Amino acid sequence: MAQTTPPQAAAAQTICWIDGKILPASEARIPVLDHGFLFGDGVFEGIRVTRRGIFRFPDHMKRLETAARAIGLTVPGGFERVHDAARETTRAWGPREGYLRLIVTRGIGALGIDPSTCPEPAIVCIATGAAPLSPEKAARGLDLITSSLRRPPADVLDPRVKSLNYLNNVLAKREASVRGADDALVLNGRGLIAECSATNIFALSGRTLDTPPTTDGALEGLTRRTVMELAVEQGLEMRERSLGRFDLYAADAVFLTGTRAGIVPVGSLDGSAISTAGWPILRALSEAFDQRAEALSTPVG
Ligand SMILES: Cc1ncc(COP(=O)(O)O)c(C=O)c1O
Repeated sequence: MAQTTPPQAAAAQTICWIDGKILPASEARIPVLDHGFLFGDGVFEGIRVTRRGIFRFPDHMKRLETAARAIGLTVPGGFERVHDAARETTRAWGPREGYLRLIVTRGIGALGIDPSTCPEPAIVCIATGAAPLSPEKAARGLDLITSSLRRPPADVLDPRVKSLNYLNNVLAKREASVRGADDALVLNGRGLIAECSATNIFALSGRTLDTPPTTDGALEGLTRRTVMELAVEQGLEMRERSLGRFDLYAADAVFLTGTRAGIVPVGSLDGSAISTAGWPILRALSEAFDQRAEALSTPVG
């Protein structure tokens, strides 16, 4: 039987860097006039911590800074302060597997939406344990439904910006739960696959691996990037191309990628089975990913 951590125990293990101090997460507080809380005005990263350090640290910091630039959020004194928060949290967490949630909000301002009323962004970094999929789920693959919600186009709310505005993703996930599924496949306005609620998606056919381009509404996931690199190293043909739901039914294997989720096979979509014929290749990619994780981690001293 899979071991599960009771919610209280998980909360006790969760720590938070805030205002330069490390606290139990249950004791950390955000002011109610913070625009991250009021309007989802801010950016964030979900980052894996390995026993060696912070996974793809420079890439995460680049994605965070790009997202901040895209919403006009600057950090007085520069982003090095944000990097330090991640490093200090990781040191406090210790040399073990974990997960960081690094958040930069617009900070405290007036009650109206105007971001120019917020002089100082707030930086918060939470560390908690990894949340591996149960062995039963991993063995059967996730059950997906196609969400009735479309991913917003880049000229509405660019999905490539990892902002605190995740209601589209939250509602897709809720729809999946309400309909008894594990997660939701999200299409863009043209009916092409973007990704899932908070993971990227891949379809393997023979030795060809396809994933939608980020311009179809996917975040540029760093697990996605790592899998793409490993696929090329393993001699697979790696393509970024638009995919429809039919491509998933035609594939030999479909899987999702994300920092918290790792690499997770898909078992069904909208009640129809997805092939498992490509799972041996998927397993090889997963093993290569696990082996590569520490090498791609930056020690924090
Ligand atoms: C919308 C969305 N897509 C994909 C991903 C996967 O990205 P990564 O592999 O960097 O965790 C995430 C991660 O949180 C996400 O929020």
